[in-house]
Amino acid sequence: MTDNIRPESMTRITTPALAAAFIDEQIAALKEQIGDKKVLLALSGGVDSSVVAALLIKAVGRQLVCVHVNHGLMRKGESEQVIEVFRDQLGANLVYIDATDRFLDKLAGVADPETKRKIIGKEFIDVFAEEAAKLEGIRFLGQGTIYPDILESKDGVKAHHNVGGLPEQYDFELVEPVKLLFKDEVRVVGKALGLPDSMVYRQPFPGPGLGVRCLGAITRDRLAALREADAVVREEIEAAVAAGTIKPIWQYFAVVPDMRATGVENGKRRYDWPVILRAVNTVDAMTATVPEIDWPVLKRIADRILAEVPGVCRVLYDLSPKPVGTIEFE
Ligand code: XMP
Repeated sequence: MTDNIRPESMTRITTPALAAAFIDEQIAALKEQIGDKKVLLALSGGVDSSVVAALLIKAVGRQLVCVHVNHGLMRKGESEQVIEVFRDQLGANLVYIDATDRFLDKLAGVADPETKRKIIGKEFIDVFAEEAAKLEGIRFLGQGTIYPDILESKDGVKAHHNVGGLPEQYDFELVEPVKLLFKDEVRVVGKALGLPDSMVYRQPFPGPGLGVRCLGAITRDRLAALREADAVVREEIEAAVAAGTIKPIWQYFAVVPDMRATGVENGKRRYDWPVILRAVNTVDAMTATVPEIDWPVLKRIADRILAEVPGVCRVLYDLSPKPVGTIEFE
């Protein structure tokens, strides 16, 4: 596939059999393109880069070098899952970089949301480029580009987040095996490749991660509270969906603002953080509605967060659709 236009005749990948055929075809094409050379891939753990990694492992094995940068803003258990699935189960050549301190030091005291995004984006490229410079003989760069990325960058809707960013001295040739697929097709392929459901059906997670949900200037203690509260939200919503109590929700997460509210415990007043629960349904993320979550589910989330997460004294549910509110808080 050298072209960036999806042919009208291309069958939509909707079944395991169609996915298996696509996988065979791609493995052959990747072997042909890459030969005995090495490929570098930034592996975030999102479905797109995970599917590309799994395809490349099947095609060229340890000629693929995956780099997972933990920017310290991942959700609970995410980096661990990347290591477990790719290094332990699939035998990938995986370089894991814990860059938490580096990112959090750069972000210290920075409250402006767009400045935070810029710092996270730039630092990510810097860390990745530094790792790339240490590796020898890399000829290709794997990318989890999907078809909507191509359409959106063509329309000028957004800068193509998967393309570019690396300094120009890296003269890599791109390897983009899922660039003509839509998200639902990537998921069917991921399933056929044997990736875990939690990776294949992962809800969208912004590149800057928890950084844009720990509002204002990020502090380590508030970030830790956010990570724990977010894990509770995910566990409880996913359990309720699995039990059929609520319908699947498109995106759901916790937010911790940079303010405190009064609480009381054992007769003593305290000033702790509120946790905001955000859940939305949407088709294209341009507009969004707020689902009516069953009261017992909401109550269980609140009870668990208040009991399990230190430093939190309230749980609030955001009722704002988009517009006027955006999906994220920053
Ligand atoms: P908003 O907040 O603009 O979010 O309504 C729409 C969708 O985009 C995601 N989002 C981001 N994704 N980098 C990303 O990769 C970002 O900086 C970013 N900001 C928002 C958000 O999670 C939602 O799915």
